[in-house]
Amino acid sequence: MTNHYLTELDLTPEQTRALLQSAIALKEERNRGVRREDLAGRHVALYFEKPSVRTRVSFTVGVQELGGQVVELAAANTKLGQGEEVADFARVMGRYVHALVARVFDQRRLEVMAKHAGIPVVNALSDTRHPAQALADAQTILERKGRIEGLRFTFVGDGNNVAASSGLLFAALGADVRIASPLGYELSDDIRRLGEDLAGRFEQVEDVDEAVRGADVLYTDTWVSMGQEEQRMERLSKFRAYSINAETLAKAAPDCAVMHCLPAVPGDEITTDVMYGSQSAIWDQAENRLHAQKALLCYLLQS
Ligand code: CP
Ligand code: NVA
Repeated sequence: MTNHYLTELDLTPEQTRALLQSAIALKEERNRGVRREDLAGRHVALYFEKPSVRTRVSFTVGVQELGGQVVELAAANTKLGQGEEVADFARVMGRYVHALVARVFDQRRLEVMAKHAGIPVVNALSDTRHPAQALADAQTILERKGRIEGLRFTFVGDGNNVAASSGLLFAALGADVRIASPLGYELSDDIRRLGEDLAGRFEQVEDVDEAVRGADVLYTDTWVSMGQEEQRMERLSKFRAYSINAETLAKAAPDCAVMHCLPAVPGDEITTDVMYGSQSAIWDQAENRLHAQKALLCYLLQS
């Protein structure tokens, strides 16, 4: 059976913990200038239906640092779903490359790819999940706090892809997870059901103050995700009380780490003083995309 990474729960907590240790080791090696050849002779295709900076660059650099090569495809240069079946695309990619990393709107499209490609498929963000981001987030907190189990992880804002994946992964690793969202913007029932079976607590709440009190990790994401641009005005009015600012941070634990997957709109979901302040883990998070994804590709492509 081919290994895929379509959701953050595709690896067991034990596998995830081992992968995070491997990401930390790869980061140390890179800082020492060690060269690796894990993906020598291998090609990885990157397919994007939405814009990307971090995911595109971190996967590209990661593959190349492991000795492999990247082929990038923008959806506009394909006929996927509009003249070519997704399954056929996947079948053909499996004949050319050794792994497929795809950013899509519909998570089900990734499942079709995984079913037919015969090579590992990695979710580079969908409308409902962002598991590659969640891995980097877990690495960042493990580095800062030495553990994830027992920490209070609070997400404030849109109950969307990032809240779902990072929340579920932290809960799977034993954290006490709360997602505070305005009415109508909570996590889906599917995600909430998944959260019920995990090692840690996983709870959707509406009250920000209650969720933030004593938090070890405070996370937020944009209020207007890719594909939701026409909802901008409505969303801004609903989310106003869910901005992370100095007052919010003061209610959290004194050494609370502030997280944001980026791209951010400073002044909306997070104020500039907090985003660029001493408790921000945001830049390490962005960097760790590189290390965590290298560890993931090594794991999925190990021969
Ligand atoms: N965080 C993240 O996935 O960033 P990009 O959309 O720039 O890839
Ligand atoms: N929720 C955001 C995350 C971007 C990395 C979006 O889907 O646009």
